[in-house]
Amino acid sequence: MEYVIGIDLGTTNSCVAVVQNGVPTVLPNRQGYKTTPSMIAMTETKKRLVGHLAKRQSITNAEFTVYAAKRLIGRKWNSEPIKQVLKSASFKLVEGPHQDVRIELRDRSYAVPEISAMVLSEMKAIAEEYLGQEVHKAVITVPAYFNDNQRQATKDAGMIAGLEVIRIINEPTAAALAYGFGRRLDKQVAVYDLGGGTFDISVLEMSSDGVFKVISTAGDTFLGGEDWDTRIIDWLVDGFKSEHGVDLRGDRMALQRLKDAAEKAKIELSQQRETEVNLPFIITSGRNEALHLQRVLTRAEFEQLTGDLVQRTVDIMDQTLDDAGIGRDEIEDVVLVGGMTRVPSIERAVAQFFGREPSKGVHPDEVVALGAAIQGAALVEQGNKMILLDVTPHTLGVMVAGGATEPLIPQNTTVPTARTRTFTTSRDNQTAVKILVMQGEHERGADNELLGEFILDGLRRAPAGSIEIDVTFDINADGIVSVRAKDLETGRDQSITVAATSGLTKDEIRSMVEEGKRFAVDRKAGEEFEAKRQEVEGLIHEVEKMFVPVEKVVGSSDFGRDALERARGVIERARQAVSKKDVMLLKEQSDALSRTLRVFKGVVART
Ligand SMILES: Nc1ncnc2c1ncn2[C@@H]1O[C@H](COP(=O)(O)OP(=O)(O)OP(=O)(O)O)[C@@H](O)[C@H]1O
Ligand SMILES: [Mg+2]
Repeated sequence: MEYVIGIDLGTTNSCVAVVQNGVPTVLPNRQGYKTTPSMIAMTETKKRLVGHLAKRQSITNAEFTVYAAKRLIGRKWNSEPIKQVLKSASFKLVEGPHQDVRIELRDRSYAVPEISAMVLSEMKAIAEEYLGQEVHKAVITVPAYFNDNQRQATKDAGMIAGLEVIRIINEPTAAALAYGFGRRLDKQVAVYDLGGGTFDISVLEMSSDGVFKVISTAGDTFLGGEDWDTRIIDWLVDGFKSEHGVDLRGDRMALQRLKDAAEKAKIELSQQRETEVNLPFIITSGRNEALHLQRVLTRAEFEQLTGDLVQRTVDIMDQTLDDAGIGRDEIEDVVLVGGMTRVPSIERAVAQFFGREPSKGVHPDEVVALGAAIQGAALVEQGNKMILLDVTPHTLGVMVAGGATEPLIPQNTTVPTARTRTFTTSRDNQTAVKILVMQGEHERGADNELLGEFILDGLRRAPAGSIEIDVTFDINADGIVSVRAKDLETGRDQSITVAATSGLTKDEIRSMVEEGKRFAVDRKAGEEFEAKRQEVEGLIHEVEKMFVPVEKVVGSSDFGRDALERARGVIERARQAVSKKDVMLLKEQSDALSRTLRVFKGVVART
């Protein structure tokens, strides 16, 4: 039986689920947690750590620990969000060869999809361990408001992780699927998803015959818990500066500790009215004196520091309902998704906006992965009647002369969809036409995301306007865009060049996939060693326990002394095999230890 896993690749936490015998289940990781921090680290000995292991050492290894990579994925080096991240990231970002972002870790730099792939590989491994078999196919979720470059980069990450990404689905849509699963609801619901890095709002209509139709969606891919944390960090740093005249921003380790403390304070304020931030020895002053940071933050102050962020989500909700012509009172249920919806001021704002208490039925951290698993199962199951109709969050258009964007597929159009537009040459004897494909709602072309440039060449020399070219824009069910062009005069499909403006080339992906595979093999070898090591340590312990009784019985004979001496040798060699990390040697020593144990047990049993 082949499983399709559903992965919620989050900014802060990732989660993996699968449908088994018709029941969607979230799979726990090795530590027993149902979500795994989306963090990776490279240790001094170039060991790769993912999840809880990476998080645990993030303060002492701040420079080589990457968090919130999702905020970087599919973005251009010179974009506004990257400039923001550069201000406070504790790891090192550099410009990549395609105006993309790379992260320097120890020996080399990594593309962002490679970093995300490390998290995805971990989720794949968690599923494989749980299911006891290899997993190849996955449905991965992305924020509804992700553009084409971000979606494509996420898909690349899946590929690098050795997964066949059979579908990319939107996070709020996945949440709605899980919410409605098996309940035969006829309802219009709103999903408010505020996670660590992104905000989405979607309105869906679900009907009891299994159709989930998205009516409208909007969001901000750079608005989430991280920004709430930053507000607390700023407040702490500013306070510290006015008190001690020392700027903590210059110190990576201090920054990482502040970040940790800020998130903790925020989470505590969901339960308590105030919290104390206490960071002893945060930095040493110029006079070589250790300085401590200690401050009390009240919930009221916190709400003041972050009120505008909450309001931003409200404004986006307002706008999208307006655009879709949906009244707030037409929403019959409000589903809260994402860890940030536990913040009281956020829950309050949403309840106020819709004039109703949000539904409590779903687990905000797990519902997205469950929805992805449900969609995955539906895609491979024969005769599954569930239908998912999503929309494109952004307008797709072309940049025309003068710099404006001419829309071709408006936002909130149901996908998959295709539109064709006929272009003509604008100059005499023009043999090539350049088309810039843009995504976004801004009127000024340059404010939108450039997805690609298409150059149609080899046209017949002719007067202006006499050559017609049909250009077809396609958005598939993943929300991914492609473009084809046809020279109407000759009737043949033009070969068009897609110049990737960010992201990775096919060759780069291929070599990353190869490297990913090698790492998977390494990881397996590591696991095998670990299992053997535990077995050997256990055997050593048991053999050592037998020394006293064996000595009592045969210690006075030459044979007995000899056997004890040999046993000591076996233990010695087993310990060496452990320290050499040699699996083959360990296997041999494990056999030798078992034999020794049998002999010892025999000796004791005979008396
Ligand atoms: N009890 C809580 N109170 C306040 N904030 C919380 C609480 N629990 C989690 N959070 C915050 O929620 C955020 C993580 O939420 P979640 O795991 O849903 O995000 P994600 O799925 O990783 O991110 P995204 O969906 O934006 O990519 C973090 O900023 C975390 O600090
Ligand atoms: Mg999320």
